[in-house]
Amino acid sequence: MGRVMVITSGKGGVGKSTVTAGLGAALGRRGKKVLLIDGDAGLRNLDILLGVAHELVFDIYDVLVGNCEPIKAIYQCPDEENLYLMPAPQSEENRVTPELMTKLIKGLSDYYDYVLVDCPGGMDSGFKAAIAAAQAALIVITPDAVCIRDADIIRTRLVKEGMKNVRLVINRFSLRALDNNRIPNLDYIIDATGVRLMGVVPEDEEIPRSSARGHIAGCKGYASLAFDRLAARLEGEKILIPKKIGEN
Ligand SMILES: Nc1ncnc2c1ncn2[C@@H]1O[C@H](COP(=O)(O)OP(=O)(O)O)[C@@H](O)[C@H]1O
Ligand SMILES: [Mg+2]
Repeated sequence: MGRVMVITSGKGGVGKSTVTAGLGAALGRRGKKVLLIDGDAGLRNLDILLGVAHELVFDIYDVLVGNCEPIKAIYQCPDEENLYLMPAPQSEENRVTPELMTKLIKGLSDYYDYVLVDCPGGMDSGFKAAIAAAQAALIVITPDAVCIRDADIIRTRLVKEGMKNVRLVINRFSLRALDNNRIPNLDYIIDATGVRLMGVVPEDEEIPRSSARGHIAGCKGYASLAFDRLAARLEGEKILIPKKIGEN
């Protein structure tokens, strides 16, 4: 059975989908078979990040209501042969319940090394469904005060829901962002969130550029190295956070 992880955050727009796609691609480059599930009903966007938006016919809701077999709602990323996506429904009304999500992922996880669930923003029913089947959670933050406080709130909620394995990813990191937000260093963020740091992804202009061209974010450029390191750590390799991260 594959590992099931949810990628979540307090604030929206911090890079959950980017990290889900970038980490998925990095695990794929290591030869792992990875399924991404877009949990953001009504605001799906992983299909764009993976370059399969034009192909979509069925989504997760179609599977759950019996419109199609699961395989019909799974799309292979053209840039990365080991990476697959089950898209979210276009309508917010077609939300998935935690019970159905758990049942679906249980059935699918036998066929993949990793199932990564991209969580919607907020902590309502979509959040509950996204975390329901996960054994581990990655909280994504950007280096600013609001995000740091939200990470503590979301960690508390995850622990309350029974999540034992919670880790932090700092996205859009740069020395300038630290400076602008009066954050002294990485240790300060780790202490303030109370979550163990799993990876730091730099601010990288290649990310929006790749997305705009319909290529998977985080396959090229400086951030892809950070996703490679994050994937390696998930696989149990001991890789330190580089000291010079964010300096260019
Ligand atoms: N490390 C990064 N460097 C530069 N831009 C980034 C980075 N991570 C995310 N972005 C940009 O930030 C925006 C929001 O990212 P997204 O992954 O959609 O956030 P979320 O899923 O949390 O709402 C996107 O335009 C994306 O291209
Ligand atoms: Mg998103």
